[in-house]
Amino acid sequence: MSSTPTEESIVTLKAEALDQLANAADEASVESWRVEYMGRRGRLTGILRNLGSLDPDQRRAIGAAANRLKGELESALDERAAEIKRSGSSQPKDAIDVTLPGRRTRRGGLHPSTQIIREMLDAFNEMGFQTVEGNEVELERYNFDMLNIPADHPARDMQDTIWIDRERASEDGGVLLRTQTSGMQPRIMEKQDPPVRIVSPGKCFRFEATDATHEWQFHQVEGLAVDEGLSFADLKGTLYEFARRIFGADRKVRFRCDFFPFVEPGVDMSIDWNGRWVEILGAGMVHPRVLRNVGYDPEKYTGFAFGVGPERVAMLKYGIEDIRHFFGNDLRFLTQF
Ligand code: DAH
Repeated sequence: MSSTPTEESIVTLKAEALDQLANAADEASVESWRVEYMGRRGRLTGILRNLGSLDPDQRRAIGAAANRLKGELESALDERAAEIKRSGSSQPKDAIDVTLPGRRTRRGGLHPSTQIIREMLDAFNEMGFQTVEGNEVELERYNFDMLNIPADHPARDMQDTIWIDRERASEDGGVLLRTQTSGMQPRIMEKQDPPVRIVSPGKCFRFEATDATHEWQFHQVEGLAVDEGLSFADLKGTLYEFARRIFGADRKVRFRCDFFPFVEPGVDMSIDWNGRWVEILGAGMVHPRVLRNVGYDPEKYTGFAFGVGPERVAMLKYGIEDIRHFFGNDLRFLTQF
């Protein structure tokens, strides 16, 4: 292209160039387009090089037009290249061999924690408990104060807390990652009058060194029933039935006294595992002070509560020896369920 440049030739060149670029479907065609127009011997490069053969007036006008076109083509090039990259059509069309036989896609599955939680919720739902979900980021007020665990109570030391904002100036106290699902008890009771019969599954977090039976993140399934005339027999009946449904009718179950500030009396429940007792939950009769905190009359209403560790339940049920497997994200473990 060494003919004398004219304004017309620039207009034609532009039309041709843009048209051809729009049809360039992959990286290779974009590159040969670049060489054809903007390469060392390219058509636009030729025009720019020949500007010197023009007289000064023409040179100014046509030179400006040619330079403008250069800018336009450069940005059109960038845009087209990016488009091709985005659409993934940078592979030549024959890169996919459509005659290859199909392969089975690998099916995902539910996490073992999710599976056991659903199984537990099914058991409780069938006994008349309704599922409610809570929040993982909780106020100090619900995680501790409303549950009869004031700031100076030693029970707080049992739950090493991951604080989001400890010094927050508010009557709700600080903000933390909940250490237990029990905060859902006052949250639900504040919102409704008895009768209450709920289960609330969810994740909890503690600032804790991990070992085979302790994780810094784990699930709990909280349960709460409040009504007129509920007794310890209702608590035991409910939890026996739960154990029977999850572990089968013959599994031995043991209750022992235990202490939790928001129940009185408090118990824990263990399951027989090859002659060993393994604790899976804490429970008790809702403390009158907790009922009063939410405006219920403890002379009229009684209730029971429980908090089960689903990972513990799954460990017993499936013979998993280390709780850290649950959050280790190892497919060799996860795909066994
Ligand atoms: N929140 C307790 C814990 O994390 C477990 C628990 C004990 C829950 C007794 C309850 C209960 O509802 O009544 O250790």
